[in-house]
Amino acid sequence: MEDLVTLKASILQKISEANNLKALEDLRVQTLGKQGSITVLMKNLGSLEGEARKEQGQKLNDVRASVGEALDKQLAYLEAEALSHQLISEKIDITLPGRSLPQGTIHALSEAMFEAISIFKDMGFWIAEGPEIEDDEHNFTALNIPETHPARQEQDTFYLPKDEKGTIQLLRTHTSPVQIRTMREKKPPLRIIAPGRVYRSDFDQTHTPTFHQIEGFYVDEGVHMGHLKGCLTEFCRRFFGKPKLPVRFRPSFFPFTEPSAEVDIGCRRGKDGLEIGEGSDWLEILGCGMVHPKVLKNCGIDPQKYQGFAFGMGIERIAMLKFGIPDLRSFYEPDLRWLSYYGFDAAKALREGRGL
Ligand code: PHE
Repeated sequence: MEDLVTLKASILQKISEANNLKALEDLRVQTLGKQGSITVLMKNLGSLEGEARKEQGQKLNDVRASVGEALDKQLAYLEAEALSHQLISEKIDITLPGRSLPQGTIHALSEAMFEAISIFKDMGFWIAEGPEIEDDEHNFTALNIPETHPARQEQDTFYLPKDEKGTIQLLRTHTSPVQIRTMREKKPPLRIIAPGRVYRSDFDQTHTPTFHQIEGFYVDEGVHMGHLKGCLTEFCRRFFGKPKLPVRFRPSFFPFTEPSAEVDIGCRRGKDGLEIGEGSDWLEILGCGMVHPKVLKNCGIDPQKYQGFAFGMGIERIAMLKFGIPDLRSFYEPDLRWLSYYGFDAAKALREGRGL
């Protein structure tokens, strides 16, 4: 009896002195655990008889309840202390200025490309792609570009070593080979745009060895020059955001179209630079024409049954005009001031689902 009082006092004393969770848990195991001192005493009750057993049992129950309660209390106390310690040590100073991350922008070239594509998509054009490493056949021959054409000479075209079969490999000089690949693969009606990178051996304020084009073509029965004019006039007016933009079709020559035309838009060349849609000057922006019957034949399409129009434009050129960028070479320079000045809101582009 005396023993139990001392035992209880000493356990409660130890509990109140336990100053961390581990020490407290050890105490719980030592007293109430399977082999704990109180548990062992409870087990030994069986050796007592009658009243003595009942009395001792009640006392032990009381000790066990007090110890349990003390353990719970101390646990709650230690946990609360640990939390407040953590709160103090991990305190965040919300008055500190934030660290802002540099915000990237959409490159003017990507923006122009996206805007052009979305206009043609609205008109029902589908996107096709072709390889940047082409062969002579797709880049020139099938497009009715004769051996003697200046575009075939070394100064314009980057030639690569011949492949295993001895075929001349080159970097495509325009996106027109996608016309050939698509027409050989699919049957009309075809309404395709082919945006992509092209290469020419040239470098000055208005030429870079790499640039981008959008090719477009529409092949079906009864396609005529009126469709070409309507489509490109609409495109120019929407792209430059001027519903009354003057658009002119001027006779020209390409080996793969007949008749061929170049498209000019109205502008004014003033002392403050170029104003699109104003004045009485003209500015050339793209080449186009009716797909040459020989090109249709080269792709296994009957020119008696099908006609088509095609066009090709430089994306850098239309981007420079639309956004007022004076030097073509700046598109490819990693100048952050230029990039942020001519760049477009990336978050907005994401919201519009671009590039997906
Ligand atoms: N491929 C021509 C160029 O690069 C453009 C063009 C395409 C012209 C389609 C007519 C038809 O200059």
